[in-house]
Amino acid sequence: MSDTASLGFGLGLATTNSNGEIIEVFYPQPEISPARSLTDAVMNVCGLETGSNHCVELDSEVHQQLVQALRECDQAATADLLERLVAGPQLVIICLLGRDSPPASVAEAYLKLHLLSHRLAKPNSLNLEGLFAVLVNIAWTNRGAIDLIDLPGRQLEARLQGLSLEIMSVDKFPRMTSYVVPAGVRIAHTARVRLGAYLGEGTTIMHEGFVNFNAGTEGPAMIEGRISAGVMVGANSDLGGGCSTMGTLSGGGKELISVGRNCLIGANAGIGFPLADGCIIEAGLYVTAGTKVRLLDANGELQKTVKAKELGGRKNLLYRRNSLSGAVECMPLKTTNALNQDLHSHN
Ligand SMILES: CC(C)(COP(=O)(O)OP(=O)(O)OC[C@H]1O[C@@H](n2cnc3c(N)ncnc32)[C@H](O)[C@@H]1OP(=O)(O)O)[C@@H](O)C(=O)NCCC(=O)NCCS
Repeated sequence: MSDTASLGFGLGLATTNSNGEIIEVFYPQPEISPARSLTDAVMNVCGLETGSNHCVELDSEVHQQLVQALRECDQAATADLLERLVAGPQLVIICLLGRDSPPASVAEAYLKLHLLSHRLAKPNSLNLEGLFAVLVNIAWTNRGAIDLIDLPGRQLEARLQGLSLEIMSVDKFPRMTSYVVPAGVRIAHTARVRLGAYLGEGTTIMHEGFVNFNAGTEGPAMIEGRISAGVMVGANSDLGGGCSTMGTLSGGGKELISVGRNCLIGANAGIGFPLADGCIIEAGLYVTAGTKVRLLDANGELQKTVKAKELGGRKNLLYRRNSLSGAVECMPLKTTNALNQDLHSHN
């Protein structure tokens, strides 16, 4: 029998709204494939079934039993964390993902987003179906997460006390850095990386860069453009200022795209098809999946005309719009793209 059976586990601090509903959860140490001894202890103490997903709000009686059970099965680190969490004023919860079904609660959704941003799960490896319907639209403020139903009251309350209540964003997703800053990254503007982004070591996100949830970089990477949900960027690739990777959440895009290793997408360029390793897209050129591309050989002779999506597996190509004819063409690259190592090796 394997030592692990569950997908994920987290002890979390939850924020509730005025109806007592959980609206967001912070998991300081989420776990992927938790040890069987840990999940057995949790399931025994909380009376849970195997193979299902659970979110349990801990009262003081259960937490004491759980601390003891965790210590008895050599899960001291989790027991210590639990003791720290219950010492505070916030609601403490346990979330156990027995299987990878669509997230059915805020607690489950936040645990999956944490697993991604802690680099414990890769983009597109977790079931996030129906995520938007589960998440709550929240005012993210300097005084924490506030459900919009409570916002007018909280704004008045703050003013009456002579305090300011600053709203940084109104969104279903918070910024990643309020939950975790993975090692070896630089993020010039933290609001531009959502919780659920996966940033590999050596990734730099400049002010123009944006990374959605369930998307990210293998690292190292220079990101000055947009990484849409579902898009993964290979190591040593460079997304130039204002460039775009086409998403599938809105606007009808259906091809799930990716960027290979050692690629350069030029400033204000974009792709709507999976780009193979070592390719360059000329600045300002947007190549969609259906764009007809003239494939040239090394001597500039036309081989054939194909749709860009048929070139998804072809490495080391330069895509450009011929400035004389207006046609999009691609040709073998003589040199490979290289990141400026000074910008990444000191993150
Ligand atoms: C496409 C790109 C990579 C080409 O750069 P390059 O390989 O250095 O090529 P060059 O500009 O030296 O051009 C080589 C030749 O192709 C020609 N050429 C370049 N782009 C062309 C185009 N779109 N149409 C027709 N001819 C073109 C040049 O005139 C030159 O001709 P020559 O041999 O007669 O002198 C570059 O223009 C580009 O877009 N880089 C992206 C940089 C970027 O955006 N970085 C991110 C910063 S935030």
